[in-house]
Amino acid sequence: MPEHASEKFIDELRADSNIVEVISDYVQLKKQGRNYLGLCPFHNEKSPSFSVSPDKQIFRCFGCGKGGNVITFIMEVEGVPFYEAIRILADKSGIALPQGMATSKQQSLSEEAQAILDANEWLAKLYHHLIKHTKEGSVGYQYLKDRGITDEIMDAFQLGYAPDVENFTASFLEKKGFHPQTMVKAGLLSHQKDHIYKDRFRGRVIFPIRNHQGKTVAFGGRILNQGEPKYLNSPETEIFHKGKIFFNFDLARNHIRKQGEAILFEGYLDVISAYQAGIKNGVATLGTSLTESQARLMRRYVDTVIICYDADRAGIEATNKAAKILQNVGCYVKIAKLKQGMDPDDYIKEYGNESFKNHVIDASVTYMSFYLDYLKKDYNLQVESDQMQYVEKALDEIAKLPKPFERDHYLKELEMNFHISMDTLHQEIDIRRRKFDKQKDNQETPRHTNIRHNPMVEKVYPAFQNAERRLIALMIKNRNIAERVQDEIGGSFLITEHQVIVTYLYAYYEEGHEPDISRFIEYLPESDLKNIIANIAMIAIPDDVSDQEIIDYINAVKQEHTKKNELQVLEKEQKEAEKQNNPILAAQIAMKILNIKKEWKLN
Ligand code: UTP
Ligand code: MN
Repeated sequence: MPEHASEKFIDELRADSNIVEVISDYVQLKKQGRNYLGLCPFHNEKSPSFSVSPDKQIFRCFGCGKGGNVITFIMEVEGVPFYEAIRILADKSGIALPQGMATSKQQSLSEEAQAILDANEWLAKLYHHLIKHTKEGSVGYQYLKDRGITDEIMDAFQLGYAPDVENFTASFLEKKGFHPQTMVKAGLLSHQKDHIYKDRFRGRVIFPIRNHQGKTVAFGGRILNQGEPKYLNSPETEIFHKGKIFFNFDLARNHIRKQGEAILFEGYLDVISAYQAGIKNGVATLGTSLTESQARLMRRYVDTVIICYDADRAGIEATNKAAKILQNVGCYVKIAKLKQGMDPDDYIKEYGNESFKNHVIDASVTYMSFYLDYLKKDYNLQVESDQMQYVEKALDEIAKLPKPFERDHYLKELEMNFHISMDTLHQEIDIRRRKFDKQKDNQETPRHTNIRHNPMVEKVYPAFQNAERRLIALMIKNRNIAERVQDEIGGSFLITEHQVIVTYLYAYYEEGHEPDISRFIEYLPESDLKNIIANIAMIAIPDDVSDQEIIDYINAVKQEHTKKNELQVLEKEQKEAEKQNNPILAAQIAMKILNIKKEWKLN
């Protein structure tokens, strides 16, 4: 295998990568005690059960059970094999890769996907070069200049132009060895006739669409003048799923994290204009409405999302829809309002950067305030009966607010605008809230089975399992304890997975490694084992554990072993019962056996 990174290199890389910082690129983490907590990126959840330990340099989700070290985290979250994860980590930490690893390709991709990625990269560079430095690209350059885009921003976003020149891109790609059919699939070329292929984006200003790792996975192309479609986008491919990524997420990510807020725009140029105006935490969807998957991605990074869509009919409808989706995944939503008919790009051009920041972004309103306005579209508020219907609808929504002072805030608005007394409004709210409570009760029956699942509370294990877990937790922290356990019980843990783990642990120490949970995780061959050990390592164990405690744990395991003999006796009895044609007795014994064995399984 050419992909060889020495153990030493990997050790250094692991040591140099701070797991909290690395994971913070994907999950908003909040400090809690010694650890950090966030929303798990591996399953859907609304309250955090994903825990990261900076001391141990490991992570662990109490909800779905995933756990591991910084390398396995990257493997899981990016869906890449080990060496690709190493590459990504080295890149993040600014560490040079050893010779031989640096150039090899991403292995997880199919050949076709890799070809599309390569072609995109070549074309992004070509288009960008053309727009900046050539006669063929000058119309594109002029177009962007006229729209107020600076050279610096063209560079930052690698904006480009696909010239309307017969055969230009097709022959460029062919010379580079790309198969025309693959390029058609990628949406880069279109098949004219026979063996004639044309640049699908020709005559358009090019907006490269990068994935979260900064790789160009698609393009958006804007027509220069009037014409349809205004924007042409790459089709969905193995490397481009519109509903899963955001435009500009890779550049915005750090700003989003730092500011604790993300701004959601509709258009590429809105993001770019805002960026140029110094607002860099903006992203956009890719010509489609916001999906739940995008909302969840957002939620992992921030609490607050400001929606800044176009102030036209479609934009306002889309705002309401996006707000609902974001709220459903637990985001706090604010709405930035523009003058009727404008989009953010228009506004910035007309009123300038400062005004956009102060009067639009910083002046964004709560969802409820937006909604009360939005709702008016369906009513003619000059007419009394419409007024009443409007108030009813508004109350329906206000009643959902959890905090009384919030509700009062909007009720006062209704009081003022429609001259209804606060008393009456409160009564109306009470009626609605009682209804909610009833609905909730109905959903929650039967009551006794509704034990609230709290993932942060450690599961209750049978006593010997607990003893095994605690022993292992001690053994990975302290080599002497491991040696002592090895002498006393060797690999005879009851739980098969524990048995395997300690066997690896003994080998790990014998090879001369120091206690280091993050490193040991890597030493284990299977992800199941990694999850289990990450879970065990998260057990809070005091540094000074008494001798007696260790002895107790060992004894608990030993004692459970006596059950093994019992089991053998039972199995013999079962056979005997079968022989004597006594199925009832045999079944009774089988039950006993099953119950013992069940205890020895991890659950
Ligand atoms: P808009 O029509 O608002 O475009 O569409 P815009 O961003 O304001 O662009 P300019 O200022 O007229 O150049 C918003 C977004 O919808 C997608 C694009 O992603 C665009 O940025 N869109 C729009 C398409 O995918 N195809 C289209 O034909 C139009
Ligand atoms: Mn627009």
